[in-house]
Amino acid sequence: MRLIRTTDYNDMSRKVANIISAQVILKPKSSLGLATGSTPIGAYQQLVRWYEKGDVDFSEVCTYNLDEYYGLLPSDPHSYRHFMDTNFFDHINIRRENTFVPDGANLDREAECARYDALLQAVGHLDLQLLGIGRNGHIGFNEPGEVFSKGTHCVDLSQSTIEANSRLFGSIDDVPRRAYSMGVQAIMNARMILLAASGEDKAQAVHDMIFGPVTPRCTASILQLHTNCVVVADRDALSLCPQA
Ligand code: F6R
Repeated sequence: MRLIRTTDYNDMSRKVANIISAQVILKPKSSLGLATGSTPIGAYQQLVRWYEKGDVDFSEVCTYNLDEYYGLLPSDPHSYRHFMDTNFFDHINIRRENTFVPDGANLDREAECARYDALLQAVGHLDLQLLGIGRNGHIGFNEPGEVFSKGTHCVDLSQSTIEANSRLFGSIDDVPRRAYSMGVQAIMNARMILLAASGEDKAQAVHDMIFGPVTPRCTASILQLHTNCVVVADRDALSLCPQA
């Protein structure tokens, strides 16, 4: 695991965007695993600015999102499909048919998980998987538990995740209780993992991810076993980690 220390959210965002744009410049046909949430927004904005300046071209890129709320239509403003469109895809030259997000509107869980896994299996290895980290150490919506889940699955969100994500909904009661999530195996299959973390509320999870035991109780700890994992974290997110 390689650690890149940054001063703050903006610094983190620029470095994350730099790594993603280098990937796309070096391999225009890259397959990118993408994340939603507050963490990657600054990086997406930076990538949009570089696209507008002509520095990076997404016309051949394919993207696969980590997760989606179960039961939400793609047009729902709280859906992750909507998030990706409005924060990123609408502003770059990616082909819409090359952007994949689990379909929250498909209530047949078995069929939807099988469909998404088949898509991922057809790719084989994502070139780069971007991740945020939950306060409880989740990656995607792979919540802490007894085992690492392999394939795409429909998860019952933990109370901690429901509370953390309620800031984006009218009230906590509006937060969906379930979500589709890519499994840990597909994440670990990526050729490169790029995990971004910002803020003091992530400090414990970041510490446990890097220094704790590899355990499904902190899902991100499995990244210690990946041979090409880069963590870009700001000072606050690293506040519980040793300085060296
Ligand atoms: C989102 C995702 C989640 C988030 C995590 C952190 O697609 O997979 O694991 O990365 O919950 O969320 P933020 O960035 O909002 O703190």
